[in-house]
Amino acid sequence: MTQTPPRQSLALVIGAGGGLGAALVQQLSADAEHHVLALGRNTQPAIDYTDEASLQRAAGWVTEQCASQQADLRLLVVASGFLHGEQGQPERSWSHLDADYLSHVFRINTIGPALVMKHFLPLLPKQGRCVAGFVSAKVGSIGDNALGGWYGYRASKAALNQLVRTASIELARRNSNAVCVALHPGTVDTGLSQPFAKTGLKVRPAAEAASDLLAVLAGLTAAQTGALVDYQGQTLPW
Ligand SMILES: NC(=O)c1ccc[n+]([C@@H]2O[C@H](COP(=O)([O-])OP(=O)(O)OC[C@H]3O[C@@H](n4cnc5c(N)ncnc54)[C@H](OP(=O)(O)O)[C@@H]3O)[C@@H](O)[C@H]2O)c1
Repeated sequence: MTQTPPRQSLALVIGAGGGLGAALVQQLSADAEHHVLALGRNTQPAIDYTDEASLQRAAGWVTEQCASQQADLRLLVVASGFLHGEQGQPERSWSHLDADYLSHVFRINTIGPALVMKHFLPLLPKQGRCVAGFVSAKVGSIGDNALGGWYGYRASKAALNQLVRTASIELARRNSNAVCVALHPGTVDTGLSQPFAKTGLKVRPAAEAASDLLAVLAGLTAAQTGALVDYQGQTLPW
């Protein structure tokens, strides 16, 4: 009797050109468990959150990869995010609130990942364990907010956390073994954190943060779906 060979496992990193995203791709590629796919603004195909059609095209490409490699998408990590740039800086006071900055921070931190949910969560298999991790931030926790400031970034990540929670419920209806979480990577040495790295703050190399997050994702159970989890595996308050 001929046996069907086991299907390969694919891991997809979105935001692969960022500090954390690149480290995630590197670490996943060094591990034989998954075949790794990487998407970002500079990959082929490219994705840009300001262009939903690019997400739809990229999801079609991932579907083709699964078919041609006889593989299932078992791990999705979304490592994109925005804090500062030409669109503006995080606000220290309500007097700094700016509609264009707010639009951009919500476009990249909230609406982009929501569109990733729309186009990529349906690609996860309906049976067996699969994991989707959306990199968020502890400063998006409303319960943990004691310092104030960073209105737009905090609010965009709080909204992302709610989207992750909502998607986790829908995903569990399709596959009771699926896990969908928001992740806090800690403070990581990347372009995003660089202008704000204060002395005394523990800033970790991206490779360390990536390996911690992958270990956390590997250990999560379906009972933990819908949570905001940090790089040590601790559940954080909303
Ligand atoms: N660094 C920290 O200390 C820290 C702390 C807490 C949370 N985080 C979170 O960790 C995640 C990774 O951030 P990072 O530190 O690696 O920052 P980074 O190096 O600045 O990376 C930014 C990321 O956002 C993506 N991105 C930006 N604009 C985009 C657009 N228009 N469309 C699609 N993707 C876009 C980039 O993807 P491509 O370049 O591939 O297109 C890149 O992956 C973010 O969610 C961030 O909020 C970071």
